[in-house]
Amino acid sequence: MFESLKPVGLDPILSLMIAFREDPRTTKVDLGVGVYMDDRGRTPVMNAVKRAETKLMALENTKSYQGIGGDAEYNKHMLALLLGANHSVIGSGRTTSIQAPGGSGALRVGAEVITRARPNAKLWVGVPTWPNHVPLLGSAGFEIKEYPYYDMETRQINADLMMETLRSVPAGDVVLLHGCCHNPTGADLTNAQWDEITEIALERGFLPFIDTAYQGLGDGLEEDAYGMRVMAEKLPELVIASSCSKNFGLYRERTGSITFVTKNADDAKLVLGQAMSVARQMYSMPPAHGALLVSLILGDEELRSEWTTELEEVRLRILSMRTLLADSIQDNALGMDFSHIKRQKGMFSFLGVKPEHLVRLREEFGIYIVSSTRINLAGINSSNIKYLSDSIRTVLNG
Ligand SMILES: Cc1ncc(COP(=O)(O)O)c(C=O)c1O
Repeated sequence: MFESLKPVGLDPILSLMIAFREDPRTTKVDLGVGVYMDDRGRTPVMNAVKRAETKLMALENTKSYQGIGGDAEYNKHMLALLLGANHSVIGSGRTTSIQAPGGSGALRVGAEVITRARPNAKLWVGVPTWPNHVPLLGSAGFEIKEYPYYDMETRQINADLMMETLRSVPAGDVVLLHGCCHNPTGADLTNAQWDEITEIALERGFLPFIDTAYQGLGDGLEEDAYGMRVMAEKLPELVIASSCSKNFGLYRERTGSITFVTKNADDAKLVLGQAMSVARQMYSMPPAHGALLVSLILGDEELRSEWTTELEEVRLRILSMRTLLADSIQDNALGMDFSHIKRQKGMFSFLGVKPEHLVRLREEFGIYIVSSTRINLAGINSSNIKYLSDSIRTVLNG
């Protein structure tokens, strides 16, 4: 029967990763892959995670099944991390949160619950957005609509057009927003823009669905949560998909959570039942290891403090790479402006060069960048910055 299947091409980022791996040049630079790398080009296990693993090994006395909703302590800690422990909605009975397999699993559970509640809801995504949003969420049954987000010319959010489009979104539709560290653009909403979207959502009656995969990598753990917190305070309903892949470095442990804010406690119970039923039908139960580590870290003052310090180091390293790159290619860059790289947040920005520049960077210099020109700033380090900026300048100067 399988002969009837159509071949599926490799994801462009995966193809790029393979080409990078096979490139024998020792000077090669990978700015394509979407994981954090330290100054030595490694994606390390955080010390707080290592210590929590040691603790867990001693504590763990069973590998029996966890519940469908995952670890209850983890769910409590994640809710507090996202919304703030003292948020008015916590304790009101209007929230419910379950563990999910990574941010991707969380997004999918959220989407399935929403489409069960409103089968004809359309999902509005910004242009551009994380390339996996459309297949991941569209296959839950959403018809996808688009709103303008980033202006490639001005290299910032096209706020006027975005707000104008959001003002036309019908009640009952769903609007996907990035909580912080927008992937792929790095262009984040200001607090004032979050306030404005919250007002529009109230007026229009659409449901915001926030994807927060980088809390702590933008302006800081609390600062990056502004949008979620203001929406949870002011709106009757909200959905948040979160990931611990980047801020805890737990990528392969598939650790995330899906949180719903509902109109009242009865709705929260309904949503919880549906989220569990969705999970049961898709993967039964989430993997335990990563969530148990996060729970140990967030529940222990010392481990938590070590983790926040390490996360802050990650954030500051990315910021310093942003400044270093922008400043070093700015000179002699043929009038092109790279200052947006310094203004933007998180791991990604568009370099904004032409496709032929990308080809030359890859072929002549072994510098790997995806075709959208999205670069991972964490791929830059003190050993490759000079080579990288010299190569970019050479290519730009023809
Ligand atoms: C915007 C965005 N959302 C969600 C995810 C999914 O994260 P996870 O690896 O936890 O599934 C990513 C990962 O790159 C992302 O960039």
